[in-house]
Amino acid sequence: MANKNVSVWTSIPFWRRSAAWVTGFAAILLIWLTFDTLGQISMGTDADLKNGVTKRVPAATVINYHIDYKMDAKRGHEVPVIGEKQPFFGKEWSAKEAADLLHLGKLTSQAKNCMNCHTLLGNGAYFAPDLTKAWLDPAWQNGGPLQGMTGKSTVEEAMAEFLQHPSQYPTHARMMPNLGITADEAKGLVAFLKHMSSIDTNGFPRNFSKTVDQFKAGGTNAH
Ligand code: HEC
Repeated sequence: MANKNVSVWTSIPFWRRSAAWVTGFAAILLIWLTFDTLGQISMGTDADLKNGVTKRVPAATVINYHIDYKMDAKRGHEVPVIGEKQPFFGKEWSAKEAADLLHLGKLTSQAKNCMNCHTLLGNGAYFAPDLTKAWLDPAWQNGGPLQGMTGKSTVEEAMAEFLQHPSQYPTHARMMPNLGITADEAKGLVAFLKHMSSIDTNGFPRNFSKTVDQFKAGGTNAH
C-alpha cells in the first residue's frame, strides 16, 4: 500500500496541527509580553518617589529631584539615580502642577516636531543630538560650556534660554533654528527633557556616557 511509506514530514495534517500550535503559543506569549511591558512602563506615583520606590518611568514630580546617572555593574550599563530634592525653576512643583507642565512640554515637543531632527527614546532623526539623556549632559551643568554661554546659573534656566533663542547660541556646525518657543513652552520642554532623563532605558543611548567621558577628559562634547 502506498500509504505505509509516507513520512510524517510530508503529512498535511501534521503541518496543519503544527501551525495551529505554533500560532496559539505565539499569541499567548505576545499577550503575556504586552501585559508585562505595560506593567514595566506604567508611570510611578509621587508617593513612590517619596518612599524611594524605583520605577522605570517615575512620576512627573521627579522634576523636583536631582537626577544622577550611575554605572550599575550588575546590569552593565548606567541607570538614572534619583537623589535629593532640588528646586526646579526656583520652586517645588505639586503633583498637579508637575503633571500639567510635563503635559505642556510633551504637546510642545509634538507641535514643534523635535523628532524631525532629534531622537527621543529611540524615535526620531539623527540630524541633531539624541535628547533622551540631554538633561544629564555635564555640558549643561554648573561650569559646563552650554550653561556658561547662556549666562544662567541652573540647568533648567540655561536650557530654557537656549530653546527660546537657539540661533543665538551656536555650538555646532549645524544650528538649531528658532522655533518660536514661548517662555512657558520652554519650561514645559525642559520638564519633559528632565523627566525623560529619569527613565530607566536599559542604558540607551549606548554612546551617551562615552560622549560624556570624552567631554570630561577635556575634548569637545561630541554632538
Ligand atoms: C530643524 C532641526 C531641529 C529641530 C526641529 C529641533 N532641533 Fe534641537 N537642535 C538642532 C541642532 C542642529 C542642534 C545642535 C545645535 C548646537 O549644538 O548648536 C540642536 C540642539 C538642541 C539641544 C542642545 C543639545 C544637547 O545635547 O543638549 C537641545 C536641548 C535641543 N536641541 C532641544 C530641542 C527641542 C526640545 C526641540 C523641539 C521643541 C528641538 N530641539 C527641535 C536641530 C533641531
